[in-house]
This record gives sequence, C-alpha cells and structure tokens, in this order.
Amino acid sequence: MTAETATKELGAARLAGADARRGGAGRDALIEFAGVSLAFAGKTVLDKIDLSIAKGEIVCIVGPSGCGKTTALRLASGLLAPSAGAIAFNGAPLQGPRRDVAIVFQDYGKALLPWRTAAGNVSLALEAAGTPRKARPQRIGALLAKVGLPNHADKYPSQMSGGMQQRLQIARCLAQEPIALMMDEPFGALDAMTRQELQDELLDIAAASGATIFFVTHDLEEAIYLGDRVIGLLPHPGRVGIELKIDLPRPRDQVATREAAQFLRLRRELYDFIKSAER
Ligand SMILES: Nc1ncnc2c1ncn2[C@@H]1O[C@H](COP(=O)(O)OP(=O)(O)OP(=O)(O)O)[C@@H](O)[C@H]1O
Ligand SMILES: [Mg+2]
Repeated sequence: MTAETATKELGAARLAGADARRGGAGRDALIEFAGVSLAFAGKTVLDKIDLSIAKGEIVCIVGPSGCGKTTALRLASGLLAPSAGAIAFNGAPLQGPRRDVAIVFQDYGKALLPWRTAAGNVSLALEAAGTPRKARPQRIGALLAKVGLPNHADKYPSQMSGGMQQRLQIARCLAQEPIALMMDEPFGALDAMTRQELQDELLDIAAASGATIFFVTHDLEEAIYLGDRVIGLLPHPGRVGIELKIDLPRPRDQVATREAAQFLRLRRELYDFIKSAER
C-alpha cells in the first residue's frame, strides 16, 4: 500500500467513525451477533444474543460478575465460537482471531513481555505485522508518543507504573492498526486519576482513527462516559437486559459531562438496572 492510499484509507476510516458517532440509521455494522448462544459443558452462559455494533461505534458492556461479559468479548474477537447462532465481521462470517482486531486485557502485567523494553514490546507487534525493520524505529516512537510514553522507550515493564504498562499495552495494540479494539476492563486496576486520563486518551485515539470499540467494564460511569451505547447484561443465562443510547455530546469532558443532567439520568437508569439484575 502506498503512503497516499494509506492516508486515504485512514481518512475514510475517520469519516466512517465520525459518521457513526453522529448516530442515525443506515450505519454499516462491523460486528453482528445473530441469536448467539454459548454453553460451557452443557451450561448455557449466553443465551440468544442479538447485537449489532456499527463501524466506529463505541459500545460498552456492563453487568453483574459472571453474567458473560468476557465471554461475549471473546466471541466478538473470534477467540470462541458460538454454540448456536452466528457472528459476522464486516459482513462475512467470523472464523477466528483477526490481525485487524486488537485485544486489550485487564491484566497488563501478563500481556507484556518482561524481558523486552517498551520499544521492544511495541516492536514485537510491528514484527508480527510485517513492518520492515527500517520503518520500525519511527513507528515505535510515534506510537509511544501517542500514548504519552515518549521518554520511556528503554524502560522495562517492571520499571513502569500500572498506568504506564497499560498505556504500553495500548500502544502495542495500535501497532496492529486495528479497525476494532476489544477491551476487557482495561482500566480496572488503575487509580481514579490515571483511569480518567486513559479514558480521555482512548476517546482521542477513537476519534482520530475511527476504530470501533467493544469495551467491558464494571464501572457504570465509565461506560456512560465512553460509550455511544451501553448494553447491560442479565445473568444466568447471560442475555441483553437493557440498551441505552448515549447522546452526550463529544468531545466529552471529565467534569462537565459527568455533571450533565442527562449523564445523571443515565447513571440512575443503569444503576437501577444493575441493582435489579443482581437480585
Ligand atoms: N472456559 C470456561 N469454562 C467453563 N465455564 C466458563 C469458562 N469461562 C467462563 N465460564 C463461566 O461462564 C460464565 C460467564 O463468565 P465470564 O467470564 O464471561 O463472566 P463476566 O461477566 O466476564 O464476569 P466478571 O465480571 O467476573 O469478569 C461464568 O459462570 C463462568 O464461570
Ligand atoms: Mg470478565
């Protein structure tokens, strides 16, 4: 691909993302669950899930522990196949993990290679993506800068804080140039301030790249703050219990957005749902 077509494609992806965030009908689906059920050893964990995620959309999944959020994310990533129903990705059946889909795990400690520096960890993803050796240093520098780690290229994961390690994991995922990011409680282990910083960085990355984001969290406010839509799952078996469209304007702001009357109404609705789902 030439630099020019790459720029055009990135531009098109940005437009698709921006369009999707404006909402409205006729948006192209990137990921579609049609009647998806999953059973582990005969026990139904997810039951007849219908879910469509548009290109460029940010969809957050909440629900009580054990309701099947991680399982849904693994299905959407192609790491698990449904027991019944079908999953389509970009209009074709999803047949397994894809290089253009990146997964960010909560446990960044396990996701990073301890014997490689920050630059080395990012380089690994570029090596896997077939980026020529000569082009790697510049890409590594740009990716580390994008996640706020421009001066930490030579540090090992053990020399970095939790927030820095999670940033590094995100940089490594971005090296794949993913069209979708699957995130399973990625900020769960971080302190509140770092968490908010990373939420905003993620929104910036999403706005600039047009990437589609499937985001699992326990934090109801985080789900509303980030999402275009929030899906609440009911447990035993896992099924869709509530779907909230989040029309809060973007760019969002940690203080103003969270103080908006609409944010507080959505928070109350989601909180009431979770309370009843846990009963
Ligand atoms: N590999 C597996 N084999 C058997 N059962 C499993 C497996 N993975 C998950 N489960 C079961 O499926 C159900 C849903 O698990 P899942 O991890 O998807 O829940 P979750 O909503 O992500 O929970 P949490 O909020 O605690 O992360 C649970 O009852 C869990 O015990
Ligand atoms: Mg989970």
